[in-house]
Amino acid sequence: VAEPTDENLRDESLASLRKAAQGCRACPLWEPATQTVFGEGPENARILVLGEQPGDMEDLSGRPFVGPAGKLLDRALADLGIDRSQLYLTNAVKHFRFERRGKQRLHRNPEASHVQACRSWLAGEIERVRPQLIVCLGGTAALAVFGKDFRLMEQRGTWQTLHDGTRAFATVHPAWILRQPENTQQKAYANWLDDLRLLLNSPA
Ligand code: URA
Repeated sequence: VAEPTDENLRDESLASLRKAAQGCRACPLWEPATQTVFGEGPENARILVLGEQPGDMEDLSGRPFVGPAGKLLDRALADLGIDRSQLYLTNAVKHFRFERRGKQRLHRNPEASHVQACRSWLAGEIERVRPQLIVCLGGTAALAVFGKDFRLMEQRGTWQTLHDGTRAFATVHPAWILRQPENTQQKAYANWLDDLRLLLNSPA
């Protein structure tokens, strides 16, 4: 699928969407990346967790949230008693955007155009999984779900209702917490847990 559109993906199952996304050429990010990192988790998951884009380890393994940010997410889920295997985890952008610095591949933020190019995949995932709740991790995920007028730091941790009735909220990205200075990191983590706790007390 060179150009994913809602139209030509309408009748596909989640499994065939995943397969089709492997050949996506809708933006230039596919070329330097190793592979498309599609979402994973049960097709009937109640909660969909949306990240930004795969990182270095996700790009290599083909799975979302397996690197350092994923490890912090795992810790938060454990602290809250949420079973990761019950969640559908995916990203707004499905290829790793990076720049090479010697042997290292350094993360670069995706642009709105990359989010736009990827949106049929995300829409396809949301349509098939039909989660009751969506949690957006970070500004890129929030952009993909709420649009460009959403203000992450002002609106984090507050329920929003999407046009189809799905409840959703955004909070900061685990990689942002990992970037906080040592003296404020614990507090940032505690505040993040407070936001994520909404998943346990969701509105009906
Ligand atoms: N960061 C993300 O946003 N998603 C991943 O899958 C990994 C790191």
